[in-house]
Amino acid sequence: GGEGPLSGRRFVVTAGPTHEPLDPVRFIGNRSSGRMGFAVAAALAEAGAEVDLVAGPVHLATPHGVRRHDVGTAREMHRAVMACIDGADGFVGVAAVADYRPASEAGDKIKKSAESMAVELVPNPDILADVAARNDRPAVVVGFAAETRDLENAARGKLEAKKLDLVAANRVGKDLGFDSEDNALEVFSAGRHWALSPKAKTALARELVAIIAERMLERESR
Ligand code: C5P
Repeated sequence: GGEGPLSGRRFVVTAGPTHEPLDPVRFIGNRSSGRMGFAVAAALAEAGAEVDLVAGPVHLATPHGVRRHDVGTAREMHRAVMACIDGADGFVGVAAVADYRPASEAGDKIKKSAESMAVELVPNPDILADVAARNDRPAVVVGFAAETRDLENAARGKLEAKKLDLVAANRVGKDLGFDSEDNALEVFSAGRHWALSPKAKTALARELVAIIAERMLERESR
């Protein structure tokens, strides 16, 4: 932690994809680069917060002043978050967590055969929903929503269903959002809406953190 509007506050941030193993050499994953989550962690640290960053498999340098915890699967990410969430003032779930994982992981490499094959998938824990449902939940809980359509409805649905303070929604598609340098965000709270125009993820993260800091102060003055 350092000087700034979030001085004395601790945040837990998730970032990146998760990899869900099928066998020792294969996994199910997604195109998340981790850049948005790392930018949010960096911006929180710049604003003076102490930051625990739980990162899936990404190729990114650890932002200055951030404590990093590397994980592979959604279940490992869940465990790592729960291990550091106690007493946190904020949680920002930016990770593109796999909703499902293979029901079992083969001990040996799966062999090719002429037959088609099916993979059974089972649901992963929802890290964000579990954090928000805690009795001693952080004062500010923020989710991300990457959507290809119907952004506002999806975001507002998530706000309610997962009991969040803020949802940052972005459009994803072929050349947008996930594996790119730039992004645009629409941020929703129960009563407000902010449209953050397309810009570098680092700049966008600072704008989001300003909204988070404002929200934190509002909570504390009530
Ligand atoms: O419902 P959906 O998966 O689209 O919600 C996205 C939000 O929930 C993101 O903030 C993401 O980090 C979080 N999430 C999570 N654990 C999951 C699935 C999503 O923390 N298993």
